[in-house]
Amino acid sequence: MPETFQAPTGTRDVMPPESARWEALVSRFAAMADRAGYGLLLSPMFEDVGVFSRVGESTDVVRKEMYVFADRGGRSLALRPEGTAPVVRAYLQHRPPVPWKVWYAAPGFRYERPQAGRYRQHHQLGAEALGSADPDVDVEIISLAADLYAGLGLRRVLLLINSIGDAVCRPAYLAKLSAYLLDRQDSLCDEHRERAGENPLRVLDCKRKACREATRSAPHIIDHLCNRCAEHFERVQAGLGALRVTFAIEPRLVRGLDYYTRTTFEFQSTALESAQNGIGGGGRYDGLAELLGGPPTPGIGFGTGIERILLTCDAEAVFGAETTRALDVFVVDITGGAEARDLAALLRRAGISADRAFDGRSMKAQMKAADRSGAEFAVVVGSEELAARKVKVQPLRKEGSEHELVARADVVEHLRSRLP
Ligand code: HAM
Repeated sequence: MPETFQAPTGTRDVMPPESARWEALVSRFAAMADRAGYGLLLSPMFEDVGVFSRVGESTDVVRKEMYVFADRGGRSLALRPEGTAPVVRAYLQHRPPVPWKVWYAAPGFRYERPQAGRYRQHHQLGAEALGSADPDVDVEIISLAADLYAGLGLRRVLLLINSIGDAVCRPAYLAKLSAYLLDRQDSLCDEHRERAGENPLRVLDCKRKACREATRSAPHIIDHLCNRCAEHFERVQAGLGALRVTFAIEPRLVRGLDYYTRTTFEFQSTALESAQNGIGGGGRYDGLAELLGGPPTPGIGFGTGIERILLTCDAEAVFGAETTRALDVFVVDITGGAEARDLAALLRRAGISADRAFDGRSMKAQMKAADRSGAEFAVVVGSEELAARKVKVQPLRKEGSEHELVARADVVEHLRSRLP
């Protein structure tokens, strides 16, 4: 026997019926993004490695987790670990008018240690707005994510926000933080004892106990913002308040990627284990376009993991499989199959979802398949119905419902009047 294969470690197949929830989630988000003036961006799944290495040299995502490979032409490419740098690359390449507002639903690849809610291929829904520094854009982006979670029925989601300043105020703060960390260097975790100087903000983000304790009384960047950053942060808070988006300020929130300036935020689920409780996050990246060789272009966005959202929905028992639309009709034909072929096509062309059995199965087997399909109705054709040019319409979901004999010519109209 030839060997068989499994999906690679840290990846998984999303099969029906679970995939129906994915479809429903993506189309919900698409509709919301559309209503807010965001258009769909499809960009390549791999990019020149520089697109990512330029913006994240001191982050784990880029340094340790990126899938990098050389193609047959010797180009160094990376599977994208995240969605923001590609959006900025596309913006700089095409220079569309600003504000440029786009959304995406795309896989991200990170060589992480796989566990529930943490995969080597995960999938993000995201939105990015480029070309405006207006704090109202921050509010629009954050509330888009908050409304997505609320619309799914999630209640146990915390929104944490922070500002990490800009090129004006951050250097002085970093000097202060570095001095603080240097004084406590011996108490930091193994990794940060060596590397704290490289990017001191990373230490605030470290989840290890040693670093958490050592940084308990570290200076907070929100106490060291310049006037313009402080005013920006005030206006973001006021805007969220006006839209009744509940948030808490978390002065340690710096996020795991290097490109952020000013507003950063994260949505955490209190229904999930803490290692995977980040269901979405984002922030401003006003310096990213310049890092990628373009003109100064402010931007802000968020990304939220589809797998994590669905895990949270399971934990809160909302947005289950029953929220996805089931099949309308299953055609049962015991006259040879030609009627099933023609009726299924007729119904589908009329916008009614329909399935059927193949291979000339028995009446019993076809009725069983109809039940299993979750369809609302079976449309049954036996030899009597065929001779009388009629079909039998049998409700499948309501206990004890009687069937009705309907003229074949009227079947579409009849079903339309009875389907929800
Ligand atoms: P991130 O926080 O690295 O940010 O990822 C965003 C979301 O993707 C996380 O909150 C989580 O739900 C999901 N996620 C990340 N890695 C994994 C994984 N290995 N397995 C499962 N889910 C995962 C970004 O990627 C930024 N690009 C967000 C952003 C957009 N910032 C500005 N615009």
